Amino acid sequence: MIRKVRMMKRSARAVLLACAALSMAAQAQAQVQVRDQARPWLDKSKSPDQRARAAVAAMTLDEKLLMIMGYGGADLSKEPDDVVPPSVKADVAAHFIQGSAGYVPGIPRLSIPPQWQTDASIGVRVEKMARTALPSSLATAASFDPGVPEAGGRMIAQEARKSGFNTLLAGGVNLAREPRNGRNFEYTGEDPLLASAMTAGLIRGIQSQHMVSTMKHYAVNDQESQRTTVDVTISPEAMRQSDLLAFELLYEQAKPGSVMCSYNLVNGRWACENDYLLNKILKQDWGFKGYVMSDWGAVHSTVDAANFGLDQFTGYPCCNHHGASFAAKYMKPALDSGAIAMRRLDDMATRVLWPLFDSGVFDDPAKAGPIDFKADALVAQRAAEESLVLLKNAGSLLPLTDVKSLAVIGGHADKGVLAGGGSSGVTPVGGNAVPGLEPKTWPGPVVYLPSSPLAALRSGLPKAKVGFASGDDIAAAVALAKRSEVAIVFVTQWMGEGMDGTLALGAQQDALVAAVAQANPKTVVVVESGGAVLMPWLGQVPAVLEAFYPGARGGEAIARILTGKVNPSGHLPLTFPASDAQLAHAEIPGFGKPDGLPVHVTYDEGAAVGYKWYDAKGYQPLFAFGHGLSYTTFAVSNPQVHVDDGLLVVGATIGNTGKRDGGGVVQVYVAPADPRAAGWEAPKRLVAFKKFALQAGGSGAFVQPVDMRLLATYETADDSWHVKAGTYRVLADQAADDLPLAVDVTLPEMTWSAVHKP
Ligand code: BGC
Repeated sequence: MIRKVRMMKRSARAVLLACAALSMAAQAQAQVQVRDQARPWLDKSKSPDQRARAAVAAMTLDEKLLMIMGYGGADLSKEPDDVVPPSVKADVAAHFIQGSAGYVPGIPRLSIPPQWQTDASIGVRVEKMARTALPSSLATAASFDPGVPEAGGRMIAQEARKSGFNTLLAGGVNLAREPRNGRNFEYTGEDPLLASAMTAGLIRGIQSQHMVSTMKHYAVNDQESQRTTVDVTISPEAMRQSDLLAFELLYEQAKPGSVMCSYNLVNGRWACENDYLLNKILKQDWGFKGYVMSDWGAVHSTVDAANFGLDQFTGYPCCNHHGASFAAKYMKPALDSGAIAMRRLDDMATRVLWPLFDSGVFDDPAKAGPIDFKADALVAQRAAEESLVLLKNAGSLLPLTDVKSLAVIGGHADKGVLAGGGSSGVTPVGGNAVPGLEPKTWPGPVVYLPSSPLAALRSGLPKAKVGFASGDDIAAAVALAKRSEVAIVFVTQWMGEGMDGTLALGAQQDALVAAVAQANPKTVVVVESGGAVLMPWLGQVPAVLEAFYPGARGGEAIARILTGKVNPSGHLPLTFPASDAQLAHAEIPGFGKPDGLPVHVTYDEGAAVGYKWYDAKGYQPLFAFGHGLSYTTFAVSNPQVHVDDGLLVVGATIGNTGKRDGGGVVQVYVAPADPRAAGWEAPKRLVAFKKFALQAGGSGAFVQPVDMRLLATYETADDSWHVKAGTYRVLADQAADDLPLAVDVTLPEMTWSAVHKP
């Protein structure tokens, strides 16, 4: 009985406690509601526009100014206090992630988080943080499958979140107009449709993880020589049909929260204070809602930069900057005098905040945590396996299956695979496999990712005797090749930011290949390059695999393709010229000279970039855009072409006609019967592509509408796109120079405005 009373007493107390807890929870919730009413940007039910505007409305002038000025890693202690206020110096010193790219202070009073910015084109780049590197962006573009960079983007964003970042400087989409551009490896090729789709995959993947991504470098930043002073002349028509079309399609597909404007001038105006590019095209015509951040140090003024469209000065003090143009010291007098309107400052701050709400950064902040490097390496390996391009395979020398002896030569294949230099370079997990190579300084050091093709070949071919020669001594390499059944020569071309290169392979590598090929007719060449290279020895070797920079598990991917465990399915995202004489520009202005020369480049080839240039000139390249072989065979058939409500709809069927499973790519091009009458820069343009994973004997089909801008010309006079009436030939197959399927279609005259605010 006594026990029962005690129990009753206990349960009564529990009820009382529970009630108290409930009422405390209710009170807390009520308090949150009151607070959220007073701070509507915390209210998740409101739209990102409403939240960003409400937050800015609550800011003081100094707080708004905090949003538009970002800092790099340099020591700010010596900066004058009226340029960088002491509170900002202390904040940056306490919160900047060392070795990263940038930091924009937050406003704790209003719960606005700082922006932690890191480069992330192929992986999180922080000097002392080892992270996973995907293959170069050019390599993943060769997969012709946007799902590949999308998976990579998710992986990078997760590593970035776990490293404390919320803003990724990624999404390079400059066209490979200049094949010697040292940053082509960071971009996604020469065609606006392919480049936009592949970069869109990356950005979609990144932003799906509650992260802001840029797209960059806007715009026409197509050479690195003199990148901070070069003035690019190009007509608005050509620009809209080439470089800007890639950005436009990318923006529509992936909605990046930020756009990074580039270092160069375009038609006489700095890209980061270019009214036409930033205000007219990006913000007005395309309806871009996020913010324009400067490339590091690319700001030249206060009033013009603000009024002509720059929203955030980033990375101060860095990279030969031209003064802290958006610091309070310069902004306040401009605001006081009315040279910059207060509503423009509000617009700048609102634009900076909008993507933080839109992408989920605000509601789901990044948290440091452990990274599963094994799982992430597999993402990188899969990307490489989908992307490497088999360029030649005479006599089906590849895949190597029951080979008894193998000579592996050159390219540091005993240690790892090459990566590109500059701000996209990732500190590899496991360290640099070949430290100490030249150049050691920016955009170096040269980095080899520790994924040895030699080791992977040895484990993939356990019964074969596999020897290695560094290639430094050609005679020794030849001797090894002579006593081996098959020789594999690895050749490399290192490219990096802030420099351009040559298409010729350096350091006697051509002589090495030629000598080995002469010694052993079964010679395979594996190319690790930033982009296109010349191959004077091509006729002497039966097989060539283009690996670009194949990423953290590149060695494994190369070995698995060479030994047939993976069937190659990459296709070239850019044309390989047969010689320098085929290039649109004999010289790159300012090439090889010290930076800072006020050079000029005129892109008079206009929109005829890449394969369009070769077609227009009737040149036969070494390898065409879209070329790529497989260990199986595909046949494209059943072309579908019709006009539906003013839209061209195309499609085709692809069948795997060989004995192995494999990935096949259908490419659809359109060629006007009269390209001049149609106003086109070249005979044909890519309008659709699709990759299929097909079992032997299997087939796949697709039908999709064509974006009519791909058939149009842009005309400045009425700011509109135009399709000229006439006959157009729809061509389909597996490469730009291999298009036997043709169907004619008649299109009516069409015109529509280039202004398409969503
Ligand atoms: C590069 C950008 C990069 C930035 C920050 C600049 O030099 O051009 O691509 O995002 O540095 O590292």
